[in-house]
Amino acid sequence: MNSTMRAIVFTRYGSPDVLELKEVAKPIPGDDEVLVKVLAASLNDWDWEALRGTFLNRPIFGFLRPHKQILGSDIAGRIEAVGKGVIRFKPGDEVLGDLSGRWGGFAEYVCARENALVLKPAGMTFEQAAAIPQAALLALQGLHDAGRIQKGQKVLINGAGGGVGTFAIQLARLYDADVTAVDSAEKLDMLRSMGALHVIDYKREDFTRNGERYDLVLDVKASRSVSDCTRALSRNGVYVVLGGSIARLLPALLLSPWNSRVRKKHIRVLMLKANVGLEHITELFEAGRIVPVIDGPYELSEVPEAFRHFGSGRHKGKVVITLA
Ligand SMILES: NC(=O)c1ccc[n+]([C@@H]2O[C@H](COP(=O)([O-])OP(=O)(O)OC[C@H]3O[C@@H](n4cnc5c(N)ncnc54)[C@H](OP(=O)(O)O)[C@@H]3O)[C@@H](O)[C@H]2O)c1
Repeated sequence: MNSTMRAIVFTRYGSPDVLELKEVAKPIPGDDEVLVKVLAASLNDWDWEALRGTFLNRPIFGFLRPHKQILGSDIAGRIEAVGKGVIRFKPGDEVLGDLSGRWGGFAEYVCARENALVLKPAGMTFEQAAAIPQAALLALQGLHDAGRIQKGQKVLINGAGGGVGTFAIQLARLYDADVTAVDSAEKLDMLRSMGALHVIDYKREDFTRNGERYDLVLDVKASRSVSDCTRALSRNGVYVVLGGSIARLLPALLLSPWNSRVRKKHIRVLMLKANVGLEHITELFEAGRIVPVIDGPYELSEVPEAFRHFGSGRHKGKVVITLA
């Protein structure tokens, strides 16, 4: 049996130019792990931040150089071997999941704990499956758990054209929400086709100053201040922020109790619960109610190019890598 595999490796922080396709040792699953033959993976903001060696990622990856050298958290593939303690899966099962910070997905094989994976529906491609874990669950947990979305509400999604937003539009429409999607001009047609009833080009219009009021704002970017965003809320409206700089997230947290009590506007900062709700998303896919938006797919050898595209912000939906 071949004991090496191809993987995209980074041994120093920097631009996508530091990523190299290399032959490395194939991982061996522990007793509570499965070995997955990776057939697709997708890029997340966390991969990008880790590659660049941003301050918050250094404690996880290594202060001077990355010790974890293979990025990639969202994967889909086929189980090749299982550890002796594994009960939910067997070789041959097709799966998807978020490796939850263990990384290693931009490679031909990766080891995963069984609780990081769910079965892939037969009608879902591996590329569609890899697009789902983090983005769809941020959208679901943001709208449903943090935002407590109700039928027919007026919902605005800021930064709607990327991975999270394209799922969020579709999920909000399942509640018959009146959805406004905010992103750059080139993405607005796509956002309408996903189900957004109104679109805003953020370079031309500030959604916090157009006089509209929303029951729920899901913010992927935190591109406007918290006080501006709460101004765009109706009474008892909810502002859910899930991405953006710490400088923007911190005031959101600090101002939350005052806003709730005095202004009757609710602020929630979402922390992703990895893989929680993933089976619900695969059921919605099987019922034809949501479809991942795929940018690419790129081959494994093209991962540096995929990162460049992601970093440019021009991608639509999820940037996906295929090894199928
Ligand atoms: N809370 C958690 O636990 C958790 C976990 C994982 C990830 N995250 C966060 O989730 C976010 C990932 O979302 P994603 O994958 O959907 O990102 P993404 O694919 O990069 O999409 C972001 C979208 O926002 C648009 N955008 C950029 N600047 C904007 C602005 N000023 N106003 C409105 N839209 C703007 C971008 O388009 P253009 O570039 O064309 O403008 C892009 O279409 C990241 O912020 C990440 O840090 C949070």
